[in-house]
Amino acid sequence: MFTTPFEKIITRAWGKPGSHSLETYQAAGGYQALEKALEMAPAQVIDEVKKSNLRGRGGAGFPTGMKWSFVPKDNPKPKYLCVNGDESEPGTFKDRYILEHDPHMMLEGIAITCYALDAHVCYVYLRGEFKHQAERTQAAIDEAYKAGIFGKKVLGRDFSLDCYLVRGAGAYICGEETALLESVEGKKGWPRLKPPFPAVVGLFGAPTVVNNVETLASVPHIFQRGAGWYAGLGTDKSGGTRLVCLSGTVKKPGVYEVPLNLTVKDLIFKPEYGNGLPAGRKVKAVIPGGSSAPVLTADELDVALEFEALKTKQTMAGSGGVVVMDESACMVRCLWRVARFYAEESCGQCTPCREGTPWQTRLLRKIEEGRGTHEDLETLVHVASSIAPYPPIGLGNTICALGDAAALPTHSFFQKFKDEFIAHVEQKKCPLGDKPWGAFQDAYNKGLPQ
Ligand SMILES: Cc1cc2nc3c(=O)[nH]c(=O)nc-3n(C[C@H](O)[C@H](O)[C@H](O)COP(=O)(O)O)c2cc1C
Repeated sequence: MFTTPFEKIITRAWGKPGSHSLETYQAAGGYQALEKALEMAPAQVIDEVKKSNLRGRGGAGFPTGMKWSFVPKDNPKPKYLCVNGDESEPGTFKDRYILEHDPHMMLEGIAITCYALDAHVCYVYLRGEFKHQAERTQAAIDEAYKAGIFGKKVLGRDFSLDCYLVRGAGAYICGEETALLESVEGKKGWPRLKPPFPAVVGLFGAPTVVNNVETLASVPHIFQRGAGWYAGLGTDKSGGTRLVCLSGTVKKPGVYEVPLNLTVKDLIFKPEYGNGLPAGRKVKAVIPGGSSAPVLTADELDVALEFEALKTKQTMAGSGGVVVMDESACMVRCLWRVARFYAEESCGQCTPCREGTPWQTRLLRKIEEGRGTHEDLETLVHVASSIAPYPPIGLGNTICALGDAAALPTHSFFQKFKDEFIAHVEQKKCPLGDKPWGAFQDAYNKGLPQ
């Protein structure tokens, strides 16, 4: 593949004045893709998306067209589309920029998707903290209603579509698709047992598709330029471009739209992306797909930022959060920080996750503070394995994948940096030296999980 020359599509208007307005979006050809899609039969629209090889950008990389085709045609209940804009995975910060700079791209994707699914209602679920993004999105929805894009007759056709914005209350778990559905229904964000999957029994018990913001923003390009063109941007199994969020020890952190054959190494070192590390620093480890993705060592960076390629390294492309750690980073401390997040965000429904995540955190604190024993190291691996064994990825013992997300970093950090864990135990201190705790210490003093 890679028969289509790379160009920026999702980020093409970012930074241009008024990029969030309907006027600017339409001046650049916006909503022409919707016109084209409305000329097709819904089943044809789904086929085009299948041909484009678009895969979900929310984390799991599930083929989008296939997901849409799971919605039963003969179910008499209404069908729904829910947009996942919860974006709370540490290291991931891309969807907020789409909402801020080009919300109409996502709205056009919503209209095409709803037409394909025969859905007449869409809920856009945004993370509670996204105040500015929520305002931008609501303003864009209002513009779309005024212009006849949403409402009783979408672009004058015999198709009605209503779109509502829902703001969460700041819980990571509500990004898990079934917890999101519970939250939209006004309940506590507790994931549901699957099957049944949302495509069959979703929002209010009706067939529902949940798609990520970036996934939906990708949809118009498939119809504007053709499924073959879109597929040609990527690999045989994965079309298009993708957004990656680069953070940690690099000179130029930020959100970059990249071709799917770009390696982790090139993302970090090429001048147009991260431009390397500050003088005197060397890469020690890289998280390639958000904090739940198993960590890579400095020797493993010649791998493309793409779903299948990262799988060969027993890790995942996830939600595109690439976090670079240099040699001054203590792997025990970094893992402890990640573990605290998952302990804080566990919904408490499943015993392995509810009990295991704070247990990991307590053990890691003990090891980092020089009070750990060899037995604690064994217990740490045992606790992580009780939540989810590794490898392979995705065989956890919990209702949702938050358990996997909490256990995979522990397994991979420990396997790849075992000597550093042992050095903490044997030297009875952090071999990288004590660092000021700053805000981290304050959080402890306030009684967050330890
Ligand atoms: C704990 C947890 C948190 C998640 N958070 C998000 C999120 O913030 N945004 C998102 O799009 N997907 C998130 N996901 C993945 C969703 O469950 C779902 O797979 C995704 O929204 C599907 O959209 P896609 O097919 O377009 O990728 C999360 C999954 C888990 C297990």
